[in-house]
Amino acid sequence: MNIISSPKDMQSFADQARAGGRVIAFIPTMGYLHDGHLSLIREGCRHGDEVVVSIFVNPTQFAPGEDLASYPRAFERDCLLAEGAGATTIFSPAERDLYGDGYQTFVALEKLPFHLCGLSRPTFFRGVATVVSKLFNIVKPHVAVFGEKDYQQLLVIRRMVSDLNFDIRIIGGPIIREADGLAMSSRNSYLTPGERQRALCLSKALKQAEAMVRDGVSGAADLIDAARKIITAHPDAVIDYIEIFDPETIEAVQTVDGPARMALAVKIGTTRLIDNTLLLP
Ligand code: PAF
Repeated sequence: MNIISSPKDMQSFADQARAGGRVIAFIPTMGYLHDGHLSLIREGCRHGDEVVVSIFVNPTQFAPGEDLASYPRAFERDCLLAEGAGATTIFSPAERDLYGDGYQTFVALEKLPFHLCGLSRPTFFRGVATVVSKLFNIVKPHVAVFGEKDYQQLLVIRRMVSDLNFDIRIIGGPIIREADGLAMSSRNSYLTPGERQRALCLSKALKQAEAMVRDGVSGAADLIDAARKIITAHPDAVIDYIEIFDPETIEAVQTVDGPARMALAVKIGTTRLIDNTLLLP
């Protein structure tokens, strides 16, 4: 497996791959890989001859006071895991290579970020859209794979790719869960054993909503109320949002009379977790 750190070297590698007719699949990550990432890499292998995984903890998507400094890192382990899942190249730039002196260019969307996570993390999607644009220009993929766990991020990337005419196919990969239902996330490593147990309230709340919709409940307010009850049963769980929305536009829906997405963000202790599911009446 190749390990490339310089953007110029990555661009030359991509140019050669493209000139040789090889399809580049790309999986952007911030490292500390888990089975969720590995499933995205395996999905990438189905679409590309070169499967490039970036590992870069992107400072511009963290606000002051968030966990940039403590974000878990395990580069060597990540390389082994990525290679095992089929990655052919790791791209791992230094911060100064992506954001050098005098850096001042950002990509910002005008509507999608003003919902859900974007309300409590107002600079997050600007940082994500900026770094993903830069990575697209460096890795030059034909196809890129993003997880549905960060559902709003997936919509932001799809919109950005369409709006800015990136010639890249975006594929969404399903949420991968632990056996007990907790959605996999690098941030789960912050949880104490007790918090880890209480964190199950996110997936339980979503499962209950799925079941209620299957049983014919369609009022978004009732579904949200029931989810809120499950979560607030834990005194150290603080809800950021619970929303039910149109899966494409992210606009809130009042009645689930067609496919809708339910998403939530909850702080368990000091760890902010997100999860979501598709509601199908
Ligand atoms: O989902 C992530 O890990 C990050 O937001 C991404 C897409 C790698 C951009 O830094």
